[in-house]
Amino acid sequence: MDASLIKTINKLQDAFSTVGVHNPIDLPQIVVIGSQSSGKSSVLENIVGRDFLPRGSGIVTRRPLVLQLINRTSSATASPTASTQRRDPHSVTSSGSNESPPNYSDDETGKPHDDQFHRIASRNAKKEPNGDKKEPEEWGEFLHQPGVKYTDFNLIREEIVRDTELKTGKNAGISPLPINLRIYSPNVLTLTLVDLPGLTRLPVGDQPKDIERQIKDMIVKYITKPNAIILAVTSANTDLANSDGLKLAREVDPEGARTIGVLTKIDLMDPGTDVVDILAGRIIPLRLGYVPVVNRGQRDIDTKKTITRSLEGERSFFENHSAYKSKAQYCGTPYLSRRLNMILMHHIRNTLPEIKAKIQAALVKYQVELAGLGDMLGEGNVGQANIVLNIITEFCNEFRTIIDGNSTDLTS
Ligand code: GDP
Ligand code: NA
Ligand code: MG
Repeated sequence: MDASLIKTINKLQDAFSTVGVHNPIDLPQIVVIGSQSSGKSSVLENIVGRDFLPRGSGIVTRRPLVLQLINRTSSATASPTASTQRRDPHSVTSSGSNESPPNYSDDETGKPHDDQFHRIASRNAKKEPNGDKKEPEEWGEFLHQPGVKYTDFNLIREEIVRDTELKTGKNAGISPLPINLRIYSPNVLTLTLVDLPGLTRLPVGDQPKDIERQIKDMIVKYITKPNAIILAVTSANTDLANSDGLKLAREVDPEGARTIGVLTKIDLMDPGTDVVDILAGRIIPLRLGYVPVVNRGQRDIDTKKTITRSLEGERSFFENHSAYKSKAQYCGTPYLSRRLNMILMHHIRNTLPEIKAKIQAALVKYQVELAGLGDMLGEGNVGQANIVLNIITEFCNEFRTIIDGNSTDLTS
């Protein structure tokens, strides 16, 4: 399903670019919030399917990271510059067009992303010394280092740490100044994700006394946007009623229309306890529900456990746990990703008719003008606009089919 969403959106984007229209589908930004060390960066990384974020105990994320995933069709057909110009607004923080995330495995091989990435990265590394200028398939680029392509995602993590320290010092200081990172890849939907510092109460180190307020203001700025989907992360070994993420989400989204609860560290719960009551909506109900996940623990990070292995472990955890095994398909990171995809598809489905109407109106105006001028030169453009209309109509139908076919995913 992820792959089909990417394909469909690519077709749509190509259709728009055929007539020189900037992609008008403005997809939501996904914003991850919660207490410090609740597992926000881990969740985000799993959604993207790549290892590239600093994670760990204590305050690791100290500046907002605005991560823009950018789909690029193929290195053979499109230069990165061309695809950037075609698909992206100039600002990295704009939500632009989006796509959904996790495509953990590639269609043909079933091999996960990070393996694929490393294969590509090592291939690129071998090429460089020969002065081979062929574009890499996937890479990261920071706004503060234009033109510098990172094909090694470990170096991306190092740069995030370096630039964080540069702007905030080595101590526990925080800053609202975002780090803007773009990841170009054929395997992602063009989508913006935001990782944020965690909510904390007591200042540590050199932190200012009003640290709680500062972090809160920073988060509120991102989640207030009506276009934001809020992933409110709470670790399962803490009390849900004390969840900072949920409390803050409720302030900006009282109806819970765009908040998904994510429960991390299910693996660390005391034996005999589980989150079944939360999932069933008996504790703090959320319209979009909760998804329990198991991310890599600190030891897994230290021993460099891959995302692939981690996802396998997560699946077998839920499939073999007496409390979850009957509902295992509604647990874990892949399910969280599917939920996000569904939200994105609904958004597109709701947006398309309006776009279609606008193009139709422009077309009519165009034809009237053309008739008035008796100018035959414009005919080609009219033909192209008609083609686009047909394609959009087709997509409207296609989306309806996909969404209806998956309506069982939309619990509550
Ligand atoms: P953040 O501060 O909210 O971004 O949290 P991180 O993603 O940096 O994670 C904080 C710590 O919790 C790290 O040591 C992670 O390895 C660990 N962690 C996160 N999620 C889980 C989980 O589901 N299970 C276990 N065992 N550890 C986790
Ligand atoms: Na942390
Ligand atoms: Mg973090």
